[in-house]
Amino acid sequence: MGFAFFGSIVVVLTLFFRSNLGQQQEHPIPNTDEFFISKFFQQMGSNSSSFSQIYNLSAPVCSWQVVFCDSNHENVIGLIAPSLGLSGSIPDNTIGKLTKLQSLDISNNQIIDLPSDFWSLNSLKTLNLSNNRIFMSLPTNIGNFVSLEKLDLSFNRFFGSLPDSVSSLTSLQVFNLNQNRFDSSVPLGIIGCHLLTSVDFSLNRFNGVLPDGFGSFSKLKSLNLAGNELKGKGSDFLKLGSLTYLNISKNLFRGSVVEIFHELLEVVDLSSNHFEGHISQVNFSSQLLYLDLSENEISGGFFTSLSRTHNLKHLNLAKNRFLEQRLINISSLHSLEHLNLSNTNLIGRISDEISSLTHLKTLDLSSNHLTGEIPLLSLKTLQNLDLSFNNLVGEIPISLLKKLPWMERFNFSYNNLTLCDSEFTPETFKSAFIGSSYSCPIAANPNLLKRKAHSHRGLELAFAFVISIIFVLIVLLCYVFGCRKKTQLWAVKQDSYKEEQVISGPFSFQTDSTTWVADVKVATLVPVVIFEKPLLNFTFSDLLSATSNFDRGTFLAEGRFGPVYRGFFPGGIHVAVKVLVHGSTMTDQEAARELEHLGRIKHPNLVPLTGYCLAGEQRIAIYDYMENENLHSLLHDLPLGVQTTEDWSSDTWEVNGSNNNGIQNVGSEGLLTTWRFRHKVALGTARALAFLHHGCSPPIIHRDVKASSVYLDYNLEPRLSDFGLSKIFGNDLEDEIARGSQGYIPPEFLNQDGSSSSCVITPKSDVFGFGVILLELITGKKPVEDEYPDDNFSKDANLVSWVRGLVRKNCGSQIIDPKIRGTGAEGQMVEALKVGYLCTADLPAKRPSMQQVVGLLKDLEQL
Ligand SMILES: *[C@@H]1O[C@H](CO)[C@@H](O)[C@H](O)[C@H]1NC(C)=O
Ligand SMILES: *[C@@H]1O[C@H](CO)[C@@H](O)[C@H](O)[C@H]1NC(C)=O
Ligand SMILES: *[C@@H]1O[C@H](CO)[C@@H](O)[C@H](O)[C@H]1NC(C)=O
Ligand SMILES: *[C@@H]1O[C@H](CO)[C@@H](O)[C@H](O)[C@H]1NC(C)=O
Ligand SMILES: *[C@@H]1O[C@H](CO)[C@@H](O)[C@H](O)[C@H]1NC(C)=O
Ligand SMILES: *[C@@H]1O[C@H](CO)[C@@H](O)[C@H](O)[C@H]1NC(C)=O
Ligand SMILES: *[C@@H]1O[C@H](CO)[C@@H](O)[C@H](O)[C@H]1NC(C)=O
Ligand SMILES: *[C@@H]1O[C@H](CO)[C@@H](O)[C@H](O)[C@H]1NC(C)=O
Ligand SMILES: *[C@@H]1O[C@H](CO)[C@@H](O)[C@H](O)[C@H]1NC(C)=O
Repeated sequence: MGFAFFGSIVVVLTLFFRSNLGQQQEHPIPNTDEFFISKFFQQMGSNSSSFSQIYNLSAPVCSWQVVFCDSNHENVIGLIAPSLGLSGSIPDNTIGKLTKLQSLDISNNQIIDLPSDFWSLNSLKTLNLSNNRIFMSLPTNIGNFVSLEKLDLSFNRFFGSLPDSVSSLTSLQVFNLNQNRFDSSVPLGIIGCHLLTSVDFSLNRFNGVLPDGFGSFSKLKSLNLAGNELKGKGSDFLKLGSLTYLNISKNLFRGSVVEIFHELLEVVDLSSNHFEGHISQVNFSSQLLYLDLSENEISGGFFTSLSRTHNLKHLNLAKNRFLEQRLINISSLHSLEHLNLSNTNLIGRISDEISSLTHLKTLDLSSNHLTGEIPLLSLKTLQNLDLSFNNLVGEIPISLLKKLPWMERFNFSYNNLTLCDSEFTPETFKSAFIGSSYSCPIAANPNLLKRKAHSHRGLELAFAFVISIIFVLIVLLCYVFGCRKKTQLWAVKQDSYKEEQVISGPFSFQTDSTTWVADVKVATLVPVVIFEKPLLNFTFSDLLSATSNFDRGTFLAEGRFGPVYRGFFPGGIHVAVKVLVHGSTMTDQEAARELEHLGRIKHPNLVPLTGYCLAGEQRIAIYDYMENENLHSLLHDLPLGVQTTEDWSSDTWEVNGSNNNGIQNVGSEGLLTTWRFRHKVALGTARALAFLHHGCSPPIIHRDVKASSVYLDYNLEPRLSDFGLSKIFGNDLEDEIARGSQGYIPPEFLNQDGSSSSCVITPKSDVFGFGVILLELITGKKPVEDEYPDDNFSKDANLVSWVRGLVRKNCGSQIIDPKIRGTGAEGQMVEALKVGYLCTADLPAKRPSMQQVVGLLKDLEQL
């Protein structure tokens, strides 16, 4: 296609030029421009097969794409021939004879020498010899190029001195000698080039001091002298009033850094010199985009002087002689992409403000004296993180830990960090975590860990398989029973993927009892952290899509702290989204840290926290979606399965499912109809609480143990949810007790009149709540507002006082839920009632610990 197009242009041009230039294409007339050009290409390019394929060497020269002729087609005025594989020395009597040549670009070839007649090209305005292998010293004749505006000799091997005759290049604007081997001083003659706008002499061996009057380039915008051996002072650049780019990195400049900065400067690289002076005296311009002062001898404290540089993208202050200072006021540098404060004498904690740097790609805080824990970082763009050689302690935030394998580079070595993750290779562990200790502060179930390590993939597949089976069955059920409600839900969800979201806030949502507002300005800027999928980079706007803008169709329940929604993120992530409305006295940082902590807590009987989002005032906790209902609705809301006369005691629920009519048990209604299953739920819930109380450090008190906090997952394994949320919700105690769930509030929190009293919350308050659940499981009664037959205290009747009265009279067997009576050993049920009795003791000290409860419930199986 390209060739065809090009070919047709050649043909058209050829036809056009033939009439003008006659038929001399076979052998151009000697000593015409055409002759010189042909000779040039024959000598330099004939060996390049690609060249002769593209250029028909026997066609008129002026028709070649690389050649530009004047309007008479007599003289060549431009030869733009980069990257054509031209190689070797340019012979005399070729391009050196093109007297009218104004533009010559033969960059990116393999030219090694220039002919002696080259320097007579005094019409040249642009000369580009960049990126060849020209090995020579520049003759004084360079001064012949009096019309030259752009001179690019970069990436060659020019050596020796830069002739003083450059003073004749009075029209020169762009002067590039980057990457050659010039080893003289910069000649005084350069002052003659008074129109210069861009100078790049970097990576040569220029030495000595800059000539007097160097500051007279009033039009100079860009100056790069990096990588030479130049001496001088900051004040040499003071008068360059148009300068926006200054790069004098890797030279021998001295003096005060304060003198250099003026209002226009955008990019300043002074790295690796001997600048000194107090940085706090520098008035950095708000235009500044790039600042590298690394490896100098600058002193003072830098944060105050950076207060105006809101546009700064790149900041490197590494290796200077700064004061001891704290890492503060960093949030005003919100455009930063690269921050290198290695070796800058930082002390104290890494301020949480650092998480407001949402564009950060590189963060190097190595070799300082930083203490405390690693704060949360904005991870969206982070690729390179070095925190080595500090005194940091504690764990690495889980969201960061999960992102690491996808980062280009990270280094946590030589701190006092603890690590609990086995996903790194031993090599990574050895190089990036030198000196970190490996310890898991939370006693995780070792069997679970083993399974995770060995058959992770298998589990995932199995999970996916089970989900699909359940899904197919649900669809089938819907079809069979025509349950419209669910299909509508599904439809809502489908739409939400396609919808283009409005992404500017604040956003207001209403549920049945609450209105809540997510006061975020731009939804795409508020991240949603999903611990296990650090690469997904979800934002609040994805959360809006996932929940159809928190539509009523996705509303699951009115939770204790706010509404709960069901959400689908792309990639099959099915979640329950809990909004903690008008949360807390905690700062965003504290809340995020707490949620990160909760994200680490894993137990087969806990609903895992999948991620979170801080949306203005609201903290949004995101959980794995639990396929089956919560215990409260299973026990009390839905009809409790069909009564059966069969003996269920020897069968598990699964086997019964297939024994029965095959469909009934897939729905959750039939689940709780055996003692064996209810016992399993009680034991799982007890295990979860025992884990929170005894397996976590510090212990976690749930504070809201109730039947509706216990869910059944896809495996019908009971899972306790909402652990740790009270802390994030951060109400004061009284408020919290007042909001505690009726029927589950332990007596120590109730005054005689039934109002709440102040008292310290201990794990024993959770034990009471668990006791109530256990009584519900055995009796099938609600904690309050149910019928409690033969109750003597009729008015304030509740489950606990009713059961306790009867257990004391040894009449426990009368109150066993008729639905499970006969599905297991009655002795076990009566014993379980006694465990419930112990748990609901009035005095907290009389209640067993959850560890003991687990033991008691396990012992029942032996009865
Ligand atoms: C091209 O090839 C010829 C012979 O193969 C050789 O003599 C000549 O030096 C080559 N020219 C260049 C520019 O490499
Ligand atoms: C090259 O140009 C000549 C004269 O214009 C023409 O006769 C010849 O066919 C062309 N060759 C190719 C390969 O295009
Ligand atoms: C010279 O050519 C190189 C490579 O083709 C190009 O990158 C550079 O911008 C050119 N120099 C000037 C001054 O145009
Ligand atoms: C300064 O010049 C050196 C050498 O050319 C280069 O490596 C460095 O990236 C430049 N700095 C900036 C800010 O452009
Ligand atoms: C810094 O520069 C700005 C703009 O030139 C000026 O308004 C301000 O007064 C200067 N501040 C100091 C402390 O010199
Ligand atoms: C930090 O910023 C605040 C407000 O921007 C300012 O009042 C305070 O002086 C700054 N502190 C330092 C040490 O620069
Ligand atoms: C930070 O700057 C120091 C000193 O120039 C350098 O050695 C180090 O590689 C830089 N860090 C990063 C991440 O670029
Ligand atoms: C590391 O931290 C722990 C507690 O976080 C402390 O007990 C220990 O002394 C620290 N070790 C060093 C070498 O600082
Ligand atoms: C981390 O830093 C230490 C100390 O400088 C070094 O030995 C180690 O190789 C670095 N590891 C990585 C992955 O950069």
